[in-house]
Formats: sequence, structure tokens, C-alpha cells
Amino acid sequence: MPVTAQEAAAHFIAQFREPPHWIVRAPGRVNLIGEHTDYNDGFVLPMAIDRAAWIALRPRDDRRVIVHSIDHDRTAEFSLDRLSNDRAGWIEYLKGTAWSLQETGRRLVGWEGVLIGDVPQGAGLSSSAALEMAAARAFSAVSRWPWDPIAMAQLAQRAENHWIGVQCGIMDPLISAAGRAGHALLIDCRTLALAPVPLPPETVVVVLDTATRRGLVDSAYNERRRQCEAAARFFGVPALRDVTLEHFQAAVDRLDLIARRRAGHVVTENHRTQEAAESMRCGDAVALGRLMSESHASLRDNFEVSSDALNAIVEAAAVQPSCYGARMTGAGFGGCAVALVKAQSADEFVARVSKIYQEKTSQTPTVYICQPADGAELLVNDRPPR
Ligand code: GLA
Repeated sequence: MPVTAQEAAAHFIAQFREPPHWIVRAPGRVNLIGEHTDYNDGFVLPMAIDRAAWIALRPRDDRRVIVHSIDHDRTAEFSLDRLSNDRAGWIEYLKGTAWSLQETGRRLVGWEGVLIGDVPQGAGLSSSAALEMAAARAFSAVSRWPWDPIAMAQLAQRAENHWIGVQCGIMDPLISAAGRAGHALLIDCRTLALAPVPLPPETVVVVLDTATRRGLVDSAYNERRRQCEAAARFFGVPALRDVTLEHFQAAVDRLDLIARRRAGHVVTENHRTQEAAESMRCGDAVALGRLMSESHASLRDNFEVSSDALNAIVEAAAVQPSCYGARMTGAGFGGCAVALVKAQSADEFVARVSKIYQEKTSQTPTVYICQPADGAELLVNDRPPR
């Protein structure tokens, strides 16, 4: 069962013996298509999901932040006047967000509260962006400056890059900040223009967690980024976003194998992602599903970020008659895949794919239907300013 505002409030009351002044929530995400395109200034099409990080909080009179994590059953704290990176796990995401906010001149007020979440960690559903965005939403509420989703996403990305040390792009914090219920967002990662597009009628999005994990920091993610940058230099453009399909095809013989594969993925994926948004606008589930399946093949064969487990679960999904298309989602190397499925057959799809994957790999997957949710929000604000 997803965590609820009532649950977050109950944990706060158990700890502090009064209701929280605010409750904030920031969701994880699943990316429908547009993978490894964000750091190439390209297009992505993620949706925020009905799994989130929640913080229930009240202000403090000093400049300390004290947080009890229900999931870790631990309390951690820091001072806004002396932020130091202790590589201390989950609290660093809150500290990094505070650091990033203060670096850009925002005045922060201390607070205390409880943190609870149901975005699985390391699964490729952006639990860290959810945590950073929940922290940003909490600071904005308690410090009383207006919420600006795009600016907050940029600050969370800075925190992730410089405090946590992961060179991720803008997609995860931006969809967590700006998601729209019932919709995915087509994001132009260069201009940060956002266009909500509805899910095709009578379809659901199913997340297929392979139960395999691989950390982002240790992965080949940064290597892929460097390879993409090198390919952009070859084409003499700022980013692979600027390479058209024609431009790419004309140059393909002069590229070395790695550059050909990496750039080939990014150029075609940008194209697929924009087409996918168009299919969604037309309610064309068949076209969207086909593009998702093509995306998976490209990530597997050209970008080389899939894994045996991801391929196995995607194949198990794709053979179901109720499935329009399936692909790995997120950075890859493990974690989750995503499928677009006929709503009326979704339960049967979940049962069948779980069974096939388990028989094939001896791993127990977690497969569930996800609803497209709103981005970060403030749910309770029932007290006058102090
Ligand atoms: C991770 C990163 C994102 C994006 C995806 C791949 O989720 O955090 O910025 O690059 O991988 O599409």
C-alpha cells in the first residue's frame, strides 16, 4: 500500500506529540521513453508515479535540521551554518539540497520532522530525486519563499552532481518537481519546456522491478556521458541533440564503433521520444508501444546499458497479447522495466509476467500498476506564520 499523508502525520504525532505544521510529498518517476538523452540536451517522456518521499515537519527556532527516517529507524541532524559532507547515507540528500539552496542565496529556516517513503531504492525509480525534491519543498514551506519547480529541479541536480557526486541529468528532479496527474511530461532538456501528454485511453503503465540492483555511481553511466560528449565533438555540435538523423547517417562510416553505437542510440531515441509524445496526443497506444520496444532494442544493442535480467523481463512482457510495448527504464544495468498494457487485462499481465520471469531467472520480481501522479506538493498548511 502506498504511504499516505495520514500515515506521515501519525508518525510525526508519535514523535512530537502534536500535528505537523506541514506535510510535503515528492514522487519517484518512471520514464516511458527518452533514455540517456537528458544529458545530451535531448527529449525525455517520464511520468511521476504514485510512490513518493514524504516529510511531516515543524519549524525550529535555530538553524538545525533534525529528521527521523521511519524507513531507516534513525535520526540524523545537521546545522545550516556548518554543512559538511560526511557521506552519511540518506541525510546527505537533504544536506546537499540545503547546500545547493544556500549557494544560490536562499535564506533557510531550521526544521524538524519525520521522513517516510515508498519509492524503492536503487531500482531506477528516482528515490534520490524524490528525497531531494521533498527536502526542497520542505525548505520552501518552512522558509516561506515561493515554490518554483524548474529552479528547484536545477538546484537538486546541482546537489546530486556536486554533493552526492553522481553526474545525472535534469530528468529525475524535474519530473519529481513538475509531474502532472494522469499525464507524462515531454521535457525538452535544453530549453526545459514541459508539455503534459495524457496516457492513451484504456491503458495502464506497469513497472516491472527485476529485483536486481546496480549503483549509479559505480556504473558505466559517467563513461556513457563521456562517450556521448566525444561523439558530439566529432560532429562539431554542443550536444548530440543537435545531430539530425540525416546528419548521423551521412557520417556513420567515419565514426568508430563505440561512437556509432552511442550516438546512434541518442539520435534515434530523441526522434522516437518526440514521436511517442505525438502518439500519446493522438491516443495511439500501438504506436507508443512500438516506440518503447524499439527504444529497448537500442539501449540493449547500441547504448549497451541493459542486463540479462532486464532483457528477460522485457521479453516476458512483450509476448503478452495485452502488452503494447516494454523497455528498460532509468539508467539501466539492473532495476526496473516499464510496459504499456491494456487496462482491462492488467492484473492477468502482472501475474503472467511475474511467473515467467521467476521461472526464467529464479528471481522474484515486483510488478505493479503505476498511476501518473502530480509532482512535489505541500499538503497541509494549517497554521499561521510564526
Ligand atoms: C538516471 C539519471 C537521469 C538519466 C537516466 C537515463 O536516471 O539520473 O538523469 O540520465 O539515468 O535516461
